[in-house]
Amino acid sequence: MYTEHDKQFARYTITSALPYANGPVHIGHLAGVYVPADIYARYLRANGEDVLFIGGSDEHGVPITIKARKEGCTPQDIVDRYHNIIKDSFKELGVSFDIYSRTSSAGHHELAADYFKKLYEEGKFIEKTSQQYYDEEAKTFLADRYITGTCPHCGNERAYGDQCEACGTTLNATDLINPKSALSGNPPVLKETKHWYLPLDQDEPWLRDWILEQHKGDWKTNVYGQCKSWIDAGLQPRAVTRDLDWGVKVPVEGADGKVLYVWFDAPIGYISFTKQHTPDWEKWWKQKDTKLVHFIGKDNIVFHCIIFPAMLHAEGSYILPDNVPANEFLNLEGDKISTSRNWAVWLHEYLVDFPGKQDVLRYTLCSNAPETKDNDFTWKDFQLKNNSELVAILGNFVNRTLVLTHKFYEGHVPAMGELTDLERQTIEEMKTFPERIGRSIETYRFREALSEMMNLARLGNKYLTETEPWKLIKTDATRAATVLNLSLQICANLAILAEPFLPFSAEKMRKMLNLSASGWTTAGSSELLKEGDLINQPELLFEKIEDAAIEGQIQKLADKKKQNELNAWAPAAVKPIVEFDDFGKVDIRVGTVLECTKVPKADKLLQFKIEDSMGTRTIVSGIAKYYPEPEKLVGQQVCFIANFAPRKLKGIESQGMILSAEDKDGRLVLITPSQLVTPGCSIG
Ligand code: MF3
Ligand code: ZN
Repeated sequence: MYTEHDKQFARYTITSALPYANGPVHIGHLAGVYVPADIYARYLRANGEDVLFIGGSDEHGVPITIKARKEGCTPQDIVDRYHNIIKDSFKELGVSFDIYSRTSSAGHHELAADYFKKLYEEGKFIEKTSQQYYDEEAKTFLADRYITGTCPHCGNERAYGDQCEACGTTLNATDLINPKSALSGNPPVLKETKHWYLPLDQDEPWLRDWILEQHKGDWKTNVYGQCKSWIDAGLQPRAVTRDLDWGVKVPVEGADGKVLYVWFDAPIGYISFTKQHTPDWEKWWKQKDTKLVHFIGKDNIVFHCIIFPAMLHAEGSYILPDNVPANEFLNLEGDKISTSRNWAVWLHEYLVDFPGKQDVLRYTLCSNAPETKDNDFTWKDFQLKNNSELVAILGNFVNRTLVLTHKFYEGHVPAMGELTDLERQTIEEMKTFPERIGRSIETYRFREALSEMMNLARLGNKYLTETEPWKLIKTDATRAATVLNLSLQICANLAILAEPFLPFSAEKMRKMLNLSASGWTTAGSSELLKEGDLINQPELLFEKIEDAAIEGQIQKLADKKKQNELNAWAPAAVKPIVEFDDFGKVDIRVGTVLECTKVPKADKLLQFKIEDSMGTRTIVSGIAKYYPEPEKLVGQQVCFIANFAPRKLKGIESQGMILSAEDKDGRLVLITPSQLVTPGCSIG
């Protein structure tokens, strides 16, 4: 290992935040957590380290019960659906979990309940009663999300018990004006309920020392900063149980209808999944020479740096995390990714739309990972990274080398002859890559690590361009052989060093090269391939992504945006009251369409000739876009305002106004009486 600090560890327990099974996994999850965690795990394995990489679905919590209610199914149905989608898509992306389990599993329930029981029996919790909202008809306490009401800050009538989405304010359910239960629609009542709390206030001294002193300069600044502000603000006791019927039942007397708070049970999943994976599970959690690393997104920092460590500390036999590399957020085309608004690129859809291109996504997400600040994913950038980096740099170098080897040497590795300064320099430089990339990975700088790996391919390209073996072959065959030998050695190094990032392409390279050497420490050598070794026929590692594919994805997002706007539609506010007499001033009548034609040189306008039993009148109306065949309106009845002041539109005098409804998508629809009536009759 390249960092001194790591030499003291015998094994690595790597966890990645358990995704909620209330939706599929998207690129934000991947860039923030799973791609970096997988690179880290693969890199350590390549170093011969003992690694356990844990994942699984987080299947409890209120959002899952709400989704089930909305869809009229059980929470178990919801989590079954998403657990399987998530698990399969991770596998296809090559996320190399040693185990991917789920918190609804029996083994997890058992361990989580035992964990709680142990702390309970040792008096590690405090019991408190408080007043919480209760639905008397549904006979149940209400989670904050199950209560809606008027926001005291902005007056939004659809605020939730934990937050107002209109003004973004965090709320307590008791702050809401006119609270209503989402279950029965009735106003809830306040009722006493007992819960168990973890007294985090008592943990402050050791947390302060452990995080703010011992991990100063070692944990990322975003992580350290959040911890510091939590600790400085003063830690409060935190309830670890809830009144809910979905989750791990609280395993003590007098706790009917109560489950463990999802943030209490989920991180215990890391441990229970280890136990499901191996009978020898304790060494991964209890031995001091195990390095525990949690990969998470920034919204998980307090849970993994303060609350879960406090739980581990209270239990007493477990190790604490050595590091918690949390990433910031990835946005999508300038907007925050959101499962509920369907603003995301979903992994399982990507895998269908771009078959065989797992590494392209891994590459783009890693090279753009939000390591120190929020970042943006755009499809154009995805295309650019594929076409001008993967294809033009890495793919091109490997392909040129292999094609030339086949062309000149029938696929055999040619002899390395005498070295010039250029070879000596190139070999020297090549030797430095494994350590440089390794050090970046060990310090959680994955973007930097990836770009170093690409620099080795750049070095190869530069070497080929400078030496031009396709010319040398005619003038100096010995030297051409040397150049291709070294180029092939660089390819072999790339096959090893690219593996954590691009496992599918690395495997292809390995097969093409018939490379047997493996392991990170074998890299750096210029003797990975032996003279005379046979190289297989080259196949392309990456292919160009055309504009059409990218435009398709951009269109897909535009459709989502449109759908979101429609979903967010609400009827316009009602205008101020008008008196009957005022209403009576407007003369609304029915008329029959005699003629209807497009107004020349005006795309929006139709010209109507209307029969109203007093004669005929001309009315111009801006609905052409919605009635592309205006002649079909002839004979239909419409409603119009008969005493509207005449006005000129495109030189035509319009004698009234035809009424239409504006639907939520902006479409205008003519209003027609439900039965034929006498033209000219009035509406009121
Ligand atoms: N489900 C949580 C989220 O997506 C993460 C849970 S991580 C665990 O934010 F540690 F609690 F498991
Ligand atoms: Zn509000």
